[in-house]
Amino acid sequence: MSTTPSDPPVTTRDFLAWKKAGRKIVCVTAYDALFGRLVDEAGVDCVLVGDSVNEVLAGEPSTLSATVDQMVYHGRAARRGVHRALLVVDMPFLSYQVSREEALRSCGRVMKETGAQAVKLEGGAGMAETVRALVDIGVPVMGHVGLTPQSVHALGGYRVQGRDPDAAVRLEADAKALEAAGCFAVVLELVPALLAARISAALAIPTIGIGAGPGCDGQVLVLPDLLGLNDRFAPKFLKRYANLADDVRQAVGSFADEVRRGAYPDDDHSF
Ligand code: KIV
Repeated sequence: MSTTPSDPPVTTRDFLAWKKAGRKIVCVTAYDALFGRLVDEAGVDCVLVGDSVNEVLAGEPSTLSATVDQMVYHGRAARRGVHRALLVVDMPFLSYQVSREEALRSCGRVMKETGAQAVKLEGGAGMAETVRALVDIGVPVMGHVGLTPQSVHALGGYRVQGRDPDAAVRLEADAKALEAAGCFAVVLELVPALLAARISAALAIPTIGIGAGPGCDGQVLVLPDLLGLNDRFAPKFLKRYANLADDVRQAVGSFADEVRRGAYPDDDHSF
């Protein structure tokens, strides 16, 4: 499926309708106008301006140091390329956890300054009141449970969550609390496939999985991972649909070679 700028924009209501209809939801990250446009034209349903930008593009060791200014910059840029897909911007660490008032201000700022249709924030039952307050002022919220990267140090690393029975019960309760608080969708990250399928069946809102098996209502991948650009990252759940890192090295290597040999620019590429 490919799309054009005249296609009607996806809304959060579509997400709920697609869940009911059993239509899978496709989400990828994008952090700028160029890739935003390309993934939108490819027909994805949702573009997430993830705080993964802080690791994948900015080279930081985790998402923890991402800032609201950074997310606004990337959200605005992606907005210029994305016309059909639902645009969701990730809220960075410490922009929504300290107080409800601060959460409303940070999320409101991101909505105002990026033109996104929703924000995403991490956390389960403990975030439910904040989610409710955001939904009450008209901010659609995507939840995120399981491996929540902003808590990587508390979780002891990037590991599968909900493996033991107690943790599984807590994870399901977290997802239900987010639904009750008004989230329109919830990301399940690094969750055993059976548990993710059970949670998906228990919720009326769609689950969007990453490393959470096929039973989720949709899937999200980080674009540079999916494209094989981020070739040093190879977790079990990741499937690469291209090997662009090789293409980049080869193309730039050819350019360098031709410049050094005086073969570029030739007459065809000169005025
Ligand atoms: O930041 C991000 O890209 C994310 C996805 C991995 C869900 O949160």
